[in-house]
Amino acid sequence: MIVQAVKWIGDIDGYLELVDQRKLPIEFATLQCRDVEVLFDAIKTLAVRGAPAIGVSAAYGLVLALQKPTDNIEKAMELLTKAREYLASSRPTAVNLFWALDRMQKKAAEVSRASRPRIAGKACPELVEGMPAPLKAFREAILAEAIAIHREDVEMCRRIGQNGQKFIEEGAGILTHCNAGALATGGQGTALSLMFEAQRNGKKFRVYADETRPLLQGARLTAWELMQAGIDVTVICDNMAGWLMKQGKVNAVITGADRIAANGDTANKIGTYSLSILAREHGVPFYIAAPSSTFDLSTKSGAEIPIEQRAAEEVISFRDAQAAPTGVGVYNPAFDVTEARDIAAIITERGIIEKPNIERVSQHLT
Ligand code: MRU
Repeated sequence: MIVQAVKWIGDIDGYLELVDQRKLPIEFATLQCRDVEVLFDAIKTLAVRGAPAIGVSAAYGLVLALQKPTDNIEKAMELLTKAREYLASSRPTAVNLFWALDRMQKKAAEVSRASRPRIAGKACPELVEGMPAPLKAFREAILAEAIAIHREDVEMCRRIGQNGQKFIEEGAGILTHCNAGALATGGQGTALSLMFEAQRNGKKFRVYADETRPLLQGARLTAWELMQAGIDVTVICDNMAGWLMKQGKVNAVITGADRIAANGDTANKIGTYSLSILAREHGVPFYIAAPSSTFDLSTKSGAEIPIEQRAAEEVISFRDAQAAPTGVGVYNPAFDVTEARDIAAIITERGIIEKPNIERVSQHLT
């Protein structure tokens, strides 16, 4: 059973239902987002997380924004633009958020232009005021676009898994970091999708899940998801990965991505960079699995990717347990960048980019 992290319930007046990932694995609870503010908080506090899941949720967030009372499309566009800016300020690194919001805004602009009354084939925007605007159709088109983004994500995840499952050999040991599973996407995940597809193909393998300090997405979420699927999973502390490789227990490292620059440099959860260096040192291939919506060709290299800094409390405590002295200095970047030269291949829904570089990334995406 693969969990569905993001669900839209109902029609244009419906709501977004998220699996509340802050509570896993202790409790499986859902969170209903009925306005943009609740969704913003859910993204910020990682109730919903993982680059594609954030993107899909934000797209539905714009549907929620249009539930505020309005009487014409121009006002609806204002609500949408305001919500777009607000949601875009929730988290800076995962580009899927901006990708989804931009796509929604573009669709809204197109539909609003097409909805203006026309006289003799010419648009007459001045006539919109005071006229019963086809607001319902506009809102339906916005919901349809969010659903399309979601459906495409489901399909991309499946294809990523199918394209990449060949990298998981019978009997292999696979190391993964953070959570790039169904919880992190609209579908069956990216890195974990390879594992689900390999399992479907009858392969037996073992996954080592880095616990992924400070918020433990690996220990809490990846371990939970893989256990649900009946995949052999072992949790390790982040600082055990090198020793595991030294013993020959890791045949491949597979992670997801939050943003991939034009040259293939890849931002992912803090700790991924260290893993890539360890993998290089031990001759272990390092794979990234991500949909094309995670590429940002306007970012030339990893140096340009904005890295989210998060609150000190996340490092010095977990839930109610304090782990360091109050007032100690803390550094808490949520992501780091793995250099393209240390990536054996990037697996997307379109296929495989072997040894990624600027030419290969561009060729793959065009
Ligand atoms: O801070 P998070 O939990 O949102 O970070 C998530 C990751 O780093 C994932 O590996 C990445 O978003 C890929 S998810 C398919």
